[in-house]
Amino acid sequence: MKINGTDYQTIWFDKEKKVVKIIDQTKLPHQFTIKDLKTVDDAINAIKTMEVRGAPLIGATAAYGLVLAVIENSDQSFLKKSSENLIISRPTAINLKWAVDRMMNKLSGINNDKIFEIALNEAKDICQEDIKFCENIGLNGLKIIEEIYSKKKNTVNILTHCNAGWLATINWGTATSPIYQAHKKGIPVHVWADETRPRNQGANLTSYELNEEGIKNTIIADNTGGILMQRGEVDMCIVGTDRTLANGDVCNKVGTYLKALAAHDNNIPFYVALPSSTIDWNIKDHKDIPIEDRNSEELSHIEGIDEKGNIKKIQIYPKKSKAMNLAFDVTPAKYVTGLITEKGVCEASTEGLRKLFK
Ligand code: MRU
Repeated sequence: MKINGTDYQTIWFDKEKKVVKIIDQTKLPHQFTIKDLKTVDDAINAIKTMEVRGAPLIGATAAYGLVLAVIENSDQSFLKKSSENLIISRPTAINLKWAVDRMMNKLSGINNDKIFEIALNEAKDICQEDIKFCENIGLNGLKIIEEIYSKKKNTVNILTHCNAGWLATINWGTATSPIYQAHKKGIPVHVWADETRPRNQGANLTSYELNEEGIKNTIIADNTGGILMQRGEVDMCIVGTDRTLANGDVCNKVGTYLKALAAHDNNIPFYVALPSSTIDWNIKDHKDIPIEDRNSEELSHIEGIDEKGNIKKIQIYPKKSKAMNLAFDVTPAKYVTGLITEKGVCEASTEGLRKLFK
């Protein structure tokens, strides 16, 4: 997708320099910086500090992290240790483990000089597959937007939470992909972008990427969605997910659950868009999902740009106050109208998912 009119993907490999290139998302929307990851520890650090974030993108970064590990030291013991460190770099999104397991399946037992090409090809395949899956999510979700538009015959207002846009994936995004497809088809769409405290991914990333693609959007405080729904100003919600259980429960950025409750109370369709790499087929009870508990400084401090264009961080809470920063919550399947996947749209239930993914 576009930044300043130029097409980008969020991650790629520079074969000449043997480095992984990422867009540093901690600097957006104020500065557009491309950063080099040279070692597996650089990849782990980029995931931890959220220079890269969003479930599919951290999976892809972990995959490329193993390519960097192979360049550093292709001993199986080093790769095993690196893969363990990558998996624990952020706990909630299942894509990390999914991508690392897929890479290690290819790399385990390989002790010859083909290992680099094998690793690079697999990391590239993971990215190419994600792009295709996200594009298909868009085409499948487009049908839902078209249906709403055919009845309403006016701008379709879509509420989203956090950033499940192309910046969270390799390209297209999950929740935003149907929106991009609708826009391409000439359907008038407008997005309510939840600010998404504390890190403001909705304001800093979703609004930013929609602006770059020329899609109308308005940032709202996280608590505004309810009144907009009561006023009839939201036609549908589409969010992403970091881990979807086989029973259709959805773990996503904290605050998603409250939006789903408000949507339910107002009879507004609440869709979740995901590639199959985000499905956890093993955990049965959502209480077993590891919910990331991040540094409370993300709440007590805020970053912005001053009048001279410098990025500044300031404290906004009393120094003595305690803050708590749970990063994700779970929306029970009963509040989810449907799951938009690369294979089609299904009910958020064991039967629904089983029909699509045998
Ligand atoms: O903490 P983040 O910014 O990594 O959280 C991202 C989200 O919650 C997204 O909604 C999710 O990863 C889906 S990405 C297509």
